[in-house]
Amino acid sequence: MEHDKKYLFTSERLGFRNWELADIDKMHEINSDEKVMEFFPGIPTKEQTTEFIGRMKKQFDDKGFCYFAVDKLETNEFIGFIGLCEQTYEAEFTPCIDIGWRITSSEWNKGFATEGAKKCLQYALNELKLENIYSVTPKINTKSERIMVKIGLEKQYEFEHPLLTNNERLRTCVLYKTETQAELF
Ligand SMILES: CC(C)(COP(=O)(O)OP(=O)(O)OC[C@H]1O[C@@H](n2cnc3c(N)ncnc32)[C@H](O)[C@@H]1OP(=O)(O)O)[C@@H](O)C(=O)NCCC(=O)NCCS
Repeated sequence: MEHDKKYLFTSERLGFRNWELADIDKMHEINSDEKVMEFFPGIPTKEQTTEFIGRMKKQFDDKGFCYFAVDKLETNEFIGFIGLCEQTYEAEFTPCIDIGWRITSSEWNKGFATEGAKKCLQYALNELKLENIYSVTPKINTKSERIMVKIGLEKQYEFEHPLLTNNERLRTCVLYKTETQAELF
């Protein structure tokens, strides 16, 4: 298919790719939407968004994955990110690789995040041969937790996020993880 050249992989309606300079302005717009950032401690500046995209590009080059830039295949329009990212903050389960998502609010409630996350998880397990994928969200972000359940992750426990200790509303987070493999005795 024509799409295949531009994208690392595709799902039925979405294409997953490395970041381009042209994404900075669009991602900044998404990050400036209070609805999108409801469960984050603040609205990122343009510099922070530029820095984030730089980090994602570097991780893609070094490791072959990142929170991928996501386009709608129908229009080639950039709609946000879904993908995999290394996490190194201090916690019992880190360092680890997590799966995460952020989509422009005009494209919510079409099932895009779940469709994309499922595909990214398959890519992580089958192509990248990663063993355990984690996912974290504030307990009050039930939409995000619902995606974790829908893609088949298993709840581990709740914990106080070390980067959110001063934020009473957000600090209690849920941890999900890919199913534990049956162990051989
Ligand atoms: C969380 C977020 C990614 C969800 O995106 P989304 O694409 O709307 O999520 P989903 O894939 O779960 O789809 C939502 C609904 O679309 C509906 N839907 C409509 N058409 C659909 C289709 N073709 N296929 C599947 N579902 C469809 C479903 O009913 C689904 O709701 P459900 O939970 O009852 O199944 C989005 O709200 C977001 O970007 N939020 C801000 C960032 C954020 O909080 N990120 C997480 C930080 S930890």
